[in-house]
Amino acid sequence: MKFDVVTLFPDMIKNYCSESIVKRGIEKGVIEVSTTNPRDFTHDKHKKVDDTPYGGSQGMVLMCQPMFDAVESIERIDNSELIMLTPQGEPFSHKISKELASFDQLILICGHYEGFDERIRLGLKPREISIGDYVLTGGELPALVLIDSISRNISGFLGKDESALDDSFSEGLLEHAQYTKPREFRGMKVPEVLLSGNHAEIEKFRANERLERTKARRPDLII
Ligand code: ADE
Repeated sequence: MKFDVVTLFPDMIKNYCSESIVKRGIEKGVIEVSTTNPRDFTHDKHKKVDDTPYGGSQGMVLMCQPMFDAVESIERIDNSELIMLTPQGEPFSHKISKELASFDQLILICGHYEGFDERIRLGLKPREISIGDYVLTGGELPALVLIDSISRNISGFLGKDESALDDSFSEGLLEHAQYTKPREFRGMKVPEVLLSGNHAEIEKFRANERLERTKARRPDLII
């Protein structure tokens, strides 16, 4: 999977991707992350990428030309999808994450300031995705949320001990509780069944926990 991120702040993307499991995924060659900066496609000496909105109001709006040129400079491969991060997009979910993991290239367009000139939407026709009903200062964190989450659904990204199969949402429920050593901490004991070695009983216990947790915390997930 190749992620191409169109951003005015490439270091935000590069810094995150140079740590931990995402870094390892890049080193293993399972994913690739590149950035393209619209500022590099400006033609004036101030490298202007935004301007005041027609009709008046607060803030600055991202201009068409640097954004179109930046997106169009990226080499598209077969099986590629163009995505714009915006609070007005369809809500991101585990289902969409899995669906997007089947592409070979995702081009992620990050906004900043008050938003995009509407003609960027109309001309480039990206799929618009939101990571939640709140507004961030830019699309970089949302792009990273997508990269991180989608990568977990690509085979070979996680180590064999880190399967995504047990994760919350993978079967429509929240994950069961986890415990590690010691058996007792400040009077709190690990449930006896987990120490029993009886795998059928352990799975029954965990399945029940997933259901009970989901009912208590996220009843909306249970149809
Ligand atoms: N840009 C700003 N806020 C956002 C959000 N909630 N989701 C996606 N992109 C955004």
